[in-house]
Amino acid sequence: MDEKEFYLETIKNLPAISQQSMKSESFQEKVAQTFYDFLQLQHIYDSAIEVVKTYLNNLDSEFSVKFQRNPIHNIESRLKSPQSIIEKLQKKGLPVTADSARKNLLDIAGIRVICCYISDIYTIAELLARRDDFVLIKHKDYIANPKPSGYRSYHIVLNVPVHLSTHKVYAPVEIQIRTIAMDFWASLEHQLKYKTSNSIPRELSRQLKDCADKIADTDMQMQQIFSQLGDID
Ligand code: GTP
Ligand code: MG
Repeated sequence: MDEKEFYLETIKNLPAISQQSMKSESFQEKVAQTFYDFLQLQHIYDSAIEVVKTYLNNLDSEFSVKFQRNPIHNIESRLKSPQSIIEKLQKKGLPVTADSARKNLLDIAGIRVICCYISDIYTIAELLARRDDFVLIKHKDYIANPKPSGYRSYHIVLNVPVHLSTHKVYAPVEIQIRTIAMDFWASLEHQLKYKTSNSIPRELSRQLKDCADKIADTDMQMQQIFSQLGDID
């Protein structure tokens, strides 16, 4: 189903909407308002992503001046599409409005920070949480406590200020911080999960977890080499 068909289906399937009411002026006004609300929502979350990315890039530059090294390997970001937002709200049985998305979804704005070493992850997480105009909403350490799948990363959700022309609003941004090695595993595992329409057979899940554990061992060894070289300097 393409995006246009998806929206048409969504509108048709909303409760209490008949073909007749779709023609009414008040309905059309409501649809126009909802589209405008979603557009505004996207602008605010997009700006929040830029605020965090600018701060991260500045931190990385500061580290390269002070310590002649970059803790951040690269940064990726994405804004959840209106289609995914609607699907997630529907899946959770929540109202399909911009306001409901704002209240209930914390991952509309997403940033992935790929670091070189495990210690860099904690440094970046701490610096993000410490910034006095960012409000920490939640954090999960899937490095100390990996998911049963083997997934490792540090997740942090921050409320980030966005300065509009007339006032300031806050938008939540989900930041996933991980090493290059953790990202390698998570990206491939994600692709494999999407490749199969059914769930992955238990034996293959076990093998994937085994890969994650081996990668984590290598990550730890690289961290030790890095730390020992630092001690020699
Ligand atoms: P949702 O965002 O609704 O999924 O729930 P949540 O708030 O409990 O989020 P959670 O902390 O489980 O992490 C959500 C995100 O982390 C996902 O959207 C993925 O990007 C990533 N993630 C979590 N578990 C896995 C996993 O097993 N494999 C991979 N590849 N990514 C994962
Ligand atoms: Mg999510």
